[in-house]
Amino acid sequence: IESNQNHFPRTASALMDKNAIETRLLQEVKDHEEVDSWKFSQSRGFPHDDVIGVLNALQSRDFLQSKTSRLAVWSLSKQAEDVILKGSPEAETYCAVPTEGISLQDLQGVVGAETIKHGLSHCYKNNWLLVDKVSEDLKMIRQKVTSIEDLVKQQLEQFKESGCNPEKCDSAILKNLKRRKLVVSSSRTVFSIKSGPKFDLSRSDESLDAALTLGMIQDGSWETRNFKPYNFNARGQKIPYGCLHPLLKVRSEFRAILLEMGFEEMPTNQYVESSFWNFDSLFQPQQHPARDAHDTFFLKKPASSPLSHLDYAKRVKTMHEQGGDGSIGWRYNWSEDESRKNILRTHTTAVSARMLYKLAQGKFTPKKYFSIDRVFRNETMDSTHLAEFHQVEGFVADYDLSLGDLIGIIAKFFEKIGIPNVKFKPAYNPYTEPSMEVFGYSEATKTWMEVGNSGIFRPEMLRPMGFPEGVRVVAWGLSLERPTMIKYGFKNIRDLFGHKVDLRMVRQNPIARF
Ligand code: PHE
Repeated sequence: IESNQNHFPRTASALMDKNAIETRLLQEVKDHEEVDSWKFSQSRGFPHDDVIGVLNALQSRDFLQSKTSRLAVWSLSKQAEDVILKGSPEAETYCAVPTEGISLQDLQGVVGAETIKHGLSHCYKNNWLLVDKVSEDLKMIRQKVTSIEDLVKQQLEQFKESGCNPEKCDSAILKNLKRRKLVVSSSRTVFSIKSGPKFDLSRSDESLDAALTLGMIQDGSWETRNFKPYNFNARGQKIPYGCLHPLLKVRSEFRAILLEMGFEEMPTNQYVESSFWNFDSLFQPQQHPARDAHDTFFLKKPASSPLSHLDYAKRVKTMHEQGGDGSIGWRYNWSEDESRKNILRTHTTAVSARMLYKLAQGKFTPKKYFSIDRVFRNETMDSTHLAEFHQVEGFVADYDLSLGDLIGIIAKFFEKIGIPNVKFKPAYNPYTEPSMEVFGYSEATKTWMEVGNSGIFRPEMLRPMGFPEGVRVVAWGLSLERPTMIKYGFKNIRDLFGHKVDLRMVRQNPIARF
């Protein structure tokens, strides 16, 4: 059913109109046996869509039945209406040519480029005008006949008078008018309507019982009552429901994979961290550029928080200032004030540091931990960077772990998320040594892409926490956005996250499977 064919205004009395359509339509089916929905709507002045609406309702109650067919509909184009008002472009062009002739340029000045474009060639074809070559660079357009007849205008007028009936128009003429885009044809679905098995002139609603009741079942009256039949083809009402954002879908997949690999999840519900856990505990010196306000968001209120583990903080201070266990430290004066500054955590490694500290207390048992949550960086935003994103991070703590263990764990994890080919490149992190960037081969783009970062936590970080000698912690991290963008085909991170996200995207995206 085409919905844009009618331009009747919708009014508050729509319901009344429906009743009027219903009464009229039933009457007409009774009088004529077969009724054409289009002709009915035109002759009675009802919008065709509304007629179809009423028809559907009456049909569902078996009052009526119908068959559909496609009907070609002809009409005049906007240009044709202009021709009927002002004459065809060729007639207009002809009339603008004076007896003494005129140059093309001047003619264009009189009637305009549009009219010339559509009219001039027809003037030549009809032998109304000719071109007179006065000299090498002067051409004059002159009249060839003294009077003309504007046939196209007459044809259009006649066609319009016939109600745009193609049968009332010579087929060659119609073809020509169509070619000149003066008449257009389109098709529309129309319904041939007949009476149905329960045909009745009275209003259909009134003869229906609203709903089946217990009483009707008990007294058996349901058998003789008139119910609206079930419509098994009706689309159910859309159910309002919540849905997971793609990042959360990928997160739950990653979570399942890591749990399957024997990792436990760390609590990440703390966006605000002290600089101590985000940086100092990780042996990141206080003058490190990442601790700058250009890279990190500092809180104004409360700007700082007290250190919770003073003995440990003291050991961290000593390690930064002087080193220990074979390290010479960073050799500067460590400031407690600096470490107390509150920030939005810049990486989930702050979460890992808290967990590692806890793990180092008491008797050590080997553990595997992971986290997936939001982090914040004071970055210039572009198509691949936002000031907040999500990190996936994991670590394994055990005696005598080697780089081989780290490579093995990472390779396994990436294999499980669909990146079976990984390469490693030496890198630098203040808290890991050695450090490796992880590259994954993308089958889609046939390139190696950076997919993560990793390393073995430094003894300068682990010893102050209280880990016994020989315990090593291998760790790796990656963003959640990168694999999500690849998985869902996002080119711009702002289409995935932030205030410009199209909520339909969130509703419609499929589940993620790795
Ligand atoms: N914290 C690092 C980052 O922000 C990732 C990482 C985690 C690196 C663990 C090494 C070990 O990129």
